[in-house]
Formats: sequence, structure tokens, C-alpha cells
Amino acid sequence: MKVLIYDDAERAVVSAADQLVAVLETKPDAVFGLATGGTMLPLYQRLVELHRDGRASFGKASTFNLDEYIGIAPDHACSYHTYMREVLFKHIDIDPSRTHLPRGDCADCVAEAARYEALIAASGGIDFQLVGIGQNGHIGFNEPTSSLSSLTRIKTLTEDTRRANARYFDNPEDIPKYALTMGVGSILATRRCLLLATGVTKARAVAAMVEGPISAACPASALQLHPKATIVLDRDAAAELELTEYYQHVHPKGAESVWN
Ligand code: GLP
Repeated sequence: MKVLIYDDAERAVVSAADQLVAVLETKPDAVFGLATGGTMLPLYQRLVELHRDGRASFGKASTFNLDEYIGIAPDHACSYHTYMREVLFKHIDIDPSRTHLPRGDCADCVAEAARYEALIAASGGIDFQLVGIGQNGHIGFNEPTSSLSSLTRIKTLTEDTRRANARYFDNPEDIPKYALTMGVGSILATRRCLLLATGVTKARAVAAMVEGPISAACPASALQLHPKATIVLDRDAAAELELTEYYQHVHPKGAESVWN
């Protein structure tokens, strides 16, 4: 794992955006795995700015999002389809037909999960996966105790996760109980993975992910098995790490190591 610790969230976001754009430069038709959540908002804003400045074109790129709520149609205000459209897709030159999310309004969600996983495989697999982390260590919607080899499937959300996402819904009863999510195994199959975490509320989960045992109790810890995982943090999210001195020694203030 490459652990990059930046002085503040803004620098962490700039670094994550630069790493994603560098992939586009070498492979304009790259396949990206995308995440939602508050952490990603400034990152997508940054990508939109880079696109407006002529420094990033998504014209040939494809995307697959990690997850979607079950029972929520793509045009619902709180769907991840809407989030992605409003925050990123409508502001960049991506071909909408090459943007993919699981459908939450599926009649047969088991079939939808299989279709989604097959679509990722048919695209040649994900070159660069962006991931956030939940306070309980979830990635995508892979809640604690998720199989570390799971593929896209239905997951029941924990009450913690439902509470954390309550701010997006008018009524607490409207918060979905289930989601379709790429599995931990789907995420491990990606060629490269970047997890972005900012803020002190993520510090405990980040420490468990990076320095704890590999355990389904903290699904993000499975990233220790990923051959090319980069963890991009601000100082607050890194606050509970014990080996900070080492990470800073290898990558001072998030800089590349001398071997790159
Ligand atoms: C949701 C998403 C995750 C995201 C997490 C953290 O549960 N399914 O992909 O990482 O929230 O979100 P935030 O960045 O808002 O803390």
C-alpha cells in the first residue's frame, strides 16, 4: 500500500485528481471505477475544472460506479445516478452511454448484479478504481462481514450507514435499506485503486484499513491485498495511524518516492 498524507484535504484532493488525469493521459479510453459520497464532491469539482481548462478529456473514457440504492430509480433526486450526472457527467465531455451504474429500480436485482459484473468484465476490467471509506470501514456498500471475495450483489445496509446517509433524504423512512454494490472481490480485481479519505471522522477506519489485520470486520482492509493500492489522506484522516513517520519518510507530504 502506498500511503500519501497531505497537510490538508485540498492538497489530498488535488493529488487524487492529478493521479486520475495522469491515467487519462496515458490511456484516453481508460475504464474508471467511480465512487460517491461527500468526500468525492471536491474531487469531481476539481476534475470539472481541469476539464474546463483543457487539461482533461473524458471523450473516450468509460466509467462504472461502485453502487446504487435499491428501490431508487435513476431519475430520483437521491439516486447515485443523479449524483454522478449533476456533480460530474453533465459538466465533462464523457459519452453518457459509456457511464454505468447498477440500476436500483431493478425487478430482478440478483440478475442486475450479475449483468453489472459481466458488463465490467466485457469492458476489459477497471483500470483505475476510486474508492471512499465509510466510518465503519465499508468500501462501496460492502458493510462489515462482507466476503472479501464478493462480486456485485445485494447488500443490506447497516443502521450506521443509513444514519450517515440520512442527510440526503427528506424523511428517515425514505432511506433505503438495501443497495447493489460491486463486491470487495470486484474492487480487488481492478488494476489500480485509489482510496481517498479526509476528515477526522474517518481516522479510526483508516487506521484499521492500513494497519489492522485483513478482516471482513473492516472490508477496506482487503485493500492490503491489492497489488496497486494508493491511500490518499489528509492529516485528520491519518491521525490514528501509528507508522506515520515511515509514510512521511517514504512520501514526504505525499511526494513520490525516489524510485518513481
Ligand atoms: C457511501 C458510499 C461509499 C462512500 C461512503 C462514505 O456509503 N456508498 O462509496 O465511500 O458513503 O461517504 P462520505 O464520503 O460521504 O463520507
